[in-house]
Amino acid sequence: MTLGCAPGKVILLGEHAVVYGRPAIAVPVQDVQACVTVQDGDSLPGITVCATELDRVYDVGCALPDEPLCATVRQTLDHLGIRLQDVSLTVTIRSSIPVASGLGSGAAVAAATARALGAHLGHPLDDAEVSAVAYETERIHHGTPSGIDNTVVSFGRPVHFRRGDPIETLEVRSPFWLVIADTGLPSLTKLSVADVRVGWEREPARYEGLFDRIAALVGKARRAIEQGSVTLLGTLMSENQDLLRELDVSSPEIERLVQVALRAGAGGAKLSGGGRGGNVIALIDPLAAESVRSALLAAGAKRVIVTKVG
Ligand code: PMV
Repeated sequence: MTLGCAPGKVILLGEHAVVYGRPAIAVPVQDVQACVTVQDGDSLPGITVCATELDRVYDVGCALPDEPLCATVRQTLDHLGIRLQDVSLTVTIRSSIPVASGLGSGAAVAAATARALGAHLGHPLDDAEVSAVAYETERIHHGTPSGIDNTVVSFGRPVHFRRGDPIETLEVRSPFWLVIADTGLPSLTKLSVADVRVGWEREPARYEGLFDRIAALVGKARRAIEQGSVTLLGTLMSENQDLLRELDVSSPEIERLVQVALRAGAGGAKLSGGGRGGNVIALIDPLAAESVRSALLAAGAKRVIVTKVG
């Protein structure tokens, strides 16, 4: 039996603008994981995929082309030049990453699957190969993904990402803490990305201006992370939230949790990922973790994760 895992992720700054060629910063969230095991099957040829949490079982040979779990398996086999009928395997997927909440669940499941399958078949994939396979699955989920999700979960390191550029992992000079609070509303990335596109087509100059301002914040945040300026990083996250609100991807539920986190002592707070729902992230002093956490839960957050970056 072979195991492959990948962490969840949050986007620290730069979502949406990253789809338009601007840079963004994302960090892995190791507290939640997708883990996939691959076992030799009975003698029948083909691959069975068991998605434990979804209570679903698929025969890869019969699944529809846009079924993401089976598509990842097929893409991994294609990458390795191995035919489905020449193997007999069972792939079991378990994940503690909440779905449709901006934590990169789809990308992490794909990365863990590619990693476990490659290793089991005697061809371990490196992080870049895992990321390339997971990107193809992201296209099924999102249509036009920037590639940031598959990159950060495959490399498992903080990344400064710009579409088309080589991957840059970030050195975190002073570790910092994030609280990740779930609004309980699904974040339908495909829809918010499509709405931003409609706005951009209608008012290109205004949207390009907002994307440029977000890019400037990302540049400053990168330096803040590399220099250990944690207070500045919090301020930049809140400024990013102001611009995301102008892009119309926030929501009353997000705004409420942002305000609650700030009032409870967070140094900065914003939505993370597609927006409209999903998770809010807040930069905190670890000593304030408990009070920010309980304030968010009291304000209706469905789940709160406290995580260290760096
Ligand atoms: O909602 P998530 O976590 O999949 O993040 C999407 C990030 C966007 O910038 C909105 C889209 C993208 O493809 O980068």
